[in-house]
Amino acid sequence: MAAPHPVHADVDRTDDWWRSAAIYQVYVRSFADGDGDGAGDLAGVRARLPYLAELGIDAVWFNPWYLSPMADGGYDVADYRAVDPAFGTLAEAEKLISEARELGIRTIVDIVPNHVSDQHTWFRSALAAGPGSPERELFHFRPGRGERGELPPNNWPSQFAGETWTRVPDGEWYLHLFTPEQPDLNWDHPVVRQEHEDVLRFWFERGAAGVRIDSAALCAKAPGLPDADEDDTTLYVDRDELHDIYRAWRAVADEYGGVLIGELWVPDPDRFSRYLRSDELHTAFNFDFLARPWEAAELRASIDTTLAFHAPVGAPATWVLCNHDVTRTVSRYGRDDTGFDFAKKRFATPTDLSTGTRRARAAALLSLALPGSVYLFQGEELGLPEADIPLDRIHDPMHFRSGGVDPGRDGCRVPLPWAADAPYYGFGSAVDPWLPQPEGWAPYAADQQAADHGSMLNLYRRALRLRRAGPGFGDGPLRWLPAAPGVLAFSRGGGLICVVNLAEDPAELPGHTSVLLTSGALDDEGRLQPDTAAWLRA
Ligand code: GLC
Repeated sequence: MAAPHPVHADVDRTDDWWRSAAIYQVYVRSFADGDGDGAGDLAGVRARLPYLAELGIDAVWFNPWYLSPMADGGYDVADYRAVDPAFGTLAEAEKLISEARELGIRTIVDIVPNHVSDQHTWFRSALAAGPGSPERELFHFRPGRGERGELPPNNWPSQFAGETWTRVPDGEWYLHLFTPEQPDLNWDHPVVRQEHEDVLRFWFERGAAGVRIDSAALCAKAPGLPDADEDDTTLYVDRDELHDIYRAWRAVADEYGGVLIGELWVPDPDRFSRYLRSDELHTAFNFDFLARPWEAAELRASIDTTLAFHAPVGAPATWVLCNHDVTRTVSRYGRDDTGFDFAKKRFATPTDLSTGTRRARAAALLSLALPGSVYLFQGEELGLPEADIPLDRIHDPMHFRSGGVDPGRDGCRVPLPWAADAPYYGFGSAVDPWLPQPEGWAPYAADQQAADHGSMLNLYRRALRLRRAGPGFGDGPLRWLPAAPGVLAFSRGGGLICVVNLAEDPAELPGHTSVLLTSGALDDEGRLQPDTAAWLRA
């Protein structure tokens, strides 16, 4: 083990900042371009740290910044101990982490344990070493089925449409739940386990305060990789063996006061909460809430289930409206189907952005008032809509592997507009950015919104400021208040009340002494308009 980093030495083991934190997700490639080459980088993030500090967030989660051929936007990692040159250097990442910390912002890095890049030295060595070699045991290599081994070893479906097995020239096949460029690791192998614990230490030593665990429910596979019955995912999703893996990770994290955050697409709330037992992960993304439609009963059911299943394990809930994999909130809430489902994403879905934006503003106040921590995805605070990416500019393998039916995830990954009047909206590029920005995005630019009191940016800034300073926010109890049908009203500690009107008619506000913030104007009679939320003090 390396000598402790100064940040490590300072760590406050009793600090539970993560139970109430507002965490901002930075997709580095699209955040800010510091060197002008068309893609965002660490220099761009460092230059924009004051913006993040002013926004009022507590931590930043960075999507993977490691050396990667970018077959899946960096989720194909070739070396966890190196920063991709397109983003910068390891020294810059260290500087970024400490500069952010000086501004009160903690850093969360993204670790991808299910797979590595096919360019990772392990996989290259495995290919070179051939069938039966110890190098191949780090992955899932198998002979094929059929007379000449021409058929894949099992029938598991891919997480992205398309094949789950790829055959190599010597005839063996390897498993990849995602693209062929992302071979799955064999988590039964002690070397795989040891390596990831070392990687955790590597980043904790460099000051990371937490780790987001990618595809956390997928690493363990059923012994022997047998065929699955149709729709049965239990051979490769949410297997009991995972808990031991994360217990070992927790022991490492605890040495550093680090936090583990799971990307767990596990629909059963009881199974989900098992990962949040006190010796496993600290928190996990609440995808149930994210996927629910804009309907009072649906959202209330999600909130109730979430809180009910988190309470027994003592973990705080999280609230997420969007991320780099899903449709942007203002677009989703402006569609007929306001829920989210990967399988249903299509091109040119009719969208009413003014309705969607009104609802997204209300949803922001709702999620920021709920008990626990909250995640914002870069551009959410600007109210960016999902962009239509021209076919010839799409990068996302999800699009290609769907046979072109699914537009993929690039529409939420467009480079941010910082300045209304600058080239490429001030993203910083001297050339066309890696994904094109739509025309007409000037009103979304951060500089324009900063000057507009009623903008989405200023709503988020005010809300985050109140949330940070005021009593009742973050971790703690929630009590539902009586409300008209279609209206959600709850109180928190310290007299904080949140009301959200998802009905078609204006709603009376519950008794209060002051209005802290609303997502839209009250009507002449002081009532909350449809698709609007308010924070009150009683
Ligand atoms: C996670 C990431 C996603 C990535 C996938 C494979 O779901 O959020 O972007 O494509 O894992 O690593």
